[in-house]
Amino acid sequence: MKKNSYYITTPIYYPSGNWHIGHCYTTVICDALARFHRMLGEDVYFLTGTDEHGQKVEKEAKDRGITPLEFIDPLVAELKSMWSLLDISYNRFIRTTDEDHIRCVQRIYQKLYDSGDIYKSEYSGWYCTPCESMWTETQLKDGKCPDCGREVTLQKEESYFFRLSKYAPRILKLYEDNPEFLQPKSRVNEMVNNFLKAGLQDLCVSRTTVKWGVPLPFDKNHYSYVWIDALSNYLSALGYLSDDEEKLKKFWPADLHMVGKEIVRFHAIIWPAILMALGLEPPKQVYGHGWLLIGGDKLSKSKQDAVKYELTDPYELVKRYGSDAIRYFLLREIPFGSDGEYTNERLLLRINADLANDLGNLVSRTTAMIGQSFQGVLPACGKKEEVDLRLEEAANGLFGRVKAAMDRLNAPDALDEIFSVVSKANKYIDETTPWILAKDEGKRERLGTVLYHLAEVCRICAVLLKPFLTKASRLILKSFSCEEDEGFEHVSFGELKAGAKVEKLPPIFPRIDVKKELAEVENLVKELKKKDKKPEKKAEAEKAPAEISIDDFAKIELKVGEIVACEKVAKSEKLLHETVKIGEETRSVVSGIAKFYTPEEMVGKKVVLVTNLKPVKLCGVLSEGMILCAEDETGKLSLLSPEKAEILSGAKIR
Ligand code: MSP
Repeated sequence: MKKNSYYITTPIYYPSGNWHIGHCYTTVICDALARFHRMLGEDVYFLTGTDEHGQKVEKEAKDRGITPLEFIDPLVAELKSMWSLLDISYNRFIRTTDEDHIRCVQRIYQKLYDSGDIYKSEYSGWYCTPCESMWTETQLKDGKCPDCGREVTLQKEESYFFRLSKYAPRILKLYEDNPEFLQPKSRVNEMVNNFLKAGLQDLCVSRTTVKWGVPLPFDKNHYSYVWIDALSNYLSALGYLSDDEEKLKKFWPADLHMVGKEIVRFHAIIWPAILMALGLEPPKQVYGHGWLLIGGDKLSKSKQDAVKYELTDPYELVKRYGSDAIRYFLLREIPFGSDGEYTNERLLLRINADLANDLGNLVSRTTAMIGQSFQGVLPACGKKEEVDLRLEEAANGLFGRVKAAMDRLNAPDALDEIFSVVSKANKYIDETTPWILAKDEGKRERLGTVLYHLAEVCRICAVLLKPFLTKASRLILKSFSCEEDEGFEHVSFGELKAGAKVEKLPPIFPRIDVKKELAEVENLVKELKKKDKKPEKKAEAEKAPAEISIDDFAKIELKVGEIVACEKVAKSEKLLHETVKIGEETRSVVSGIAKFYTPEEMVGKKVVLVTNLKPVKLCGVLSEGMILCAEDETGKLSLLSPEKAEILSGAKIR
């Protein structure tokens, strides 16, 4: 039975490298929750990491001529530095390429295989030979490979399957018996109506074509399916099926898997089914949060390019406004569980209204007045008036209200509570007019009482803000000579001792001139976009083949051919089938140029061909050579032809 512990996880991130502020959302929320629970005195294990296997990484690395790890390592380092910039206090950063994780995935597969929950069968799908990828019928685009647009062929492949279908009734029961298991409620309806009602199909959990994965222990030709590999991180991080399962005993079942709504299906259907098959308890809760939108769509790298001048790069944002401001925006602005629109203007307005005006002003006015009237020494609290008691009561009840909100995982509500007390304190300044009291020697005790109240509210709010504003909260506590690591045991009014040193705090969140800043950001985004384009070009250049020797070149046989007949390839929009005379020989050639030349135009043309390529069948038609074309940036094609028309077919190109 686990006690006094809290296990919280983010999804593990694909090493895409195109990080944007949307990516920070899940992790910042989890960080605030992890910090909150640590301050409650719980033993917290906060897990995040990277999801590194799969076809995409394999292909990207191959295209660059490097190993998958050489491709991934710098991206993982980038992600870690982003988390460090945002003050993310994870306990472990797990990588699916970590040895202990791989071992655990293999043991999980073995256990499921031994119990009969994984069995061998046949998977049929549409195979794209050049991409070496298998697609399902629904993944195809106009009946062709969704990646390269080429023809695909129906193939059957031997695969291993997980008996997901068997677990559908138990998953429905899990939802019924544990309404807290999947939140918010709307996600339960999605899962039940879209997937569970119709029954589940067994899940194909092995690949032979994608080799960048975990090899299965019982069949080394097969590699793990990425989602089983990825989900297992929640257990491998705790040492599941290793020699040391202490962490597992302490932290499993997880208290919370926080995930974006698009991956709820994996966490709320596939994952509990696997856990049931392993004989483990399901996590206590899966929470599917909403998205940060831009222009009404999910913020993503491609969308970010489409929407003109919004700065979404987390590094730049933190550099300009500081990590607290970014954390605050993410935690406060997006209604929890729903989507929320991101714009630079909304971010700046939030920073100005809440952080610079409300919190910043309260703290700098309070510390400045104690400096001016009491030489930076906290005055004693004298006789309290009605107005003081009202503020004191609001501050005293604050922890309970914040905790209630955080128990519902609702950081926006928790922050709302704290900032409503900050507002009350600012209003209290207007009501008690300490600047007038300061002019009257006879009101000195009253002034002391007012400033004491303000100091206490600043301190209590700072303690409660620690999980959210990691830097500002510390600065505030320090200025009141409080221990920076003060926990939630210090949230009652009256703890500050008269005589304590109070240091004047300069504005912690300087006010931003929104109009000027938006103009600057617009220019910055334009600059960044230009820079962004350059690396792409560089990557293209890097992709260019390395220098070759004349002997390498000699391996390619190029000849002039004359097209003697040409027709469209049935069922293909792209392909033409040419009959080409090359000297004495006649060959069948298929080329993807139907969008640029009609069959009639082709007949009689002299073209340049590669004549020693291995023959292949494209759309069922034999191709024994490749006609060369030039392709410009717009994708337009033009045939290469010998400059003098009288040159004979069969002529060699040197
Ligand atoms: N690798 C999988 C998760 C495997 S977990 C066993 C994955 N990775 S991801 O990099 O695509 O996403 C990581 C997290 O970022 C997800 O929670 C996702 O929802 C979140 N976000 C990415 N873009 C987002 C927004 N625009 N808004 C909010 N969160 C979004 O999925």
